[in-house]
Amino acid sequence: MDISLEAALTGRRSVRAFAAESPPREMVAEALRLAEFAPNAGNRQQIWRVVCADSATLARVGRTQTVLRAKFNAGKPLVVTEAELAIAASAFYDAPVAVALFAPSRFHFAAADAYVYAQTLCLSAFGLGLASCIVGGVGDAVGADNGRKWRVPEGYAPQCYVLLGAQRGPLPAVHPRKYPPVVWA
Ligand SMILES: Cc1cc2nc3c(=O)[nH]c(=O)nc-3n(C[C@H](O)[C@H](O)[C@H](O)COP(=O)(O)O)c2cc1C
Repeated sequence: MDISLEAALTGRRSVRAFAAESPPREMVAEALRLAEFAPNAGNRQQIWRVVCADSATLARVGRTQTVLRAKFNAGKPLVVTEAELAIAASAFYDAPVAVALFAPSRFHFAAADAYVYAQTLCLSAFGLGLASCIVGGVGDAVGADNGRKWRVPEGYAPQCYVLLGAQRGPLPAVHPRKYPPVVWA
């Protein structure tokens, strides 16, 4: 990885179109290892990470996530039916890999820790030549069956996901910066 920090910060984009092939396992492992240097609350380093490259599981969790997000936005109970799943688009687009990030649900900084790790992972992935996108978590799209398979510790809940893969098509354009001005007090 010989990319300048400025090039990484300004060059990383959220990519939503991926090539079908999974990135090499060693590359994903290295991106995950580098992201372990993310700041984290109380230095607990407790984010539980699951790399999923199974297309059927990705489709189900991604579709569930889409339905949960729509329900949340509509102020409806976070209950998902098979009929709703059948017609939902996946929140994971066509990514070959999603990293699910879990944290203890009764920890005040659970979401903060997971998103800081997620962003660090996007940057480490970018440095290694991988495209990425954070997908915000709403409710539990993973479900108890996958949770058991993925050895998610008791009391942990999904916080967010990071899609990884090779980008398909051109890199998305840089969004113009529109932050409010900085106040120097
Ligand atoms: C907390 C958070 C949640 C996000 N959730 C989603 C998401 O669910 N789906 C998605 O496509 N992008 C998601 N993104 C990516 C943002 O849309 C993206 O960062 C933003 O549009 C700026 O684009 P850029 O990352 O290419 O600079 C999320 C980003 C953050 C920080």
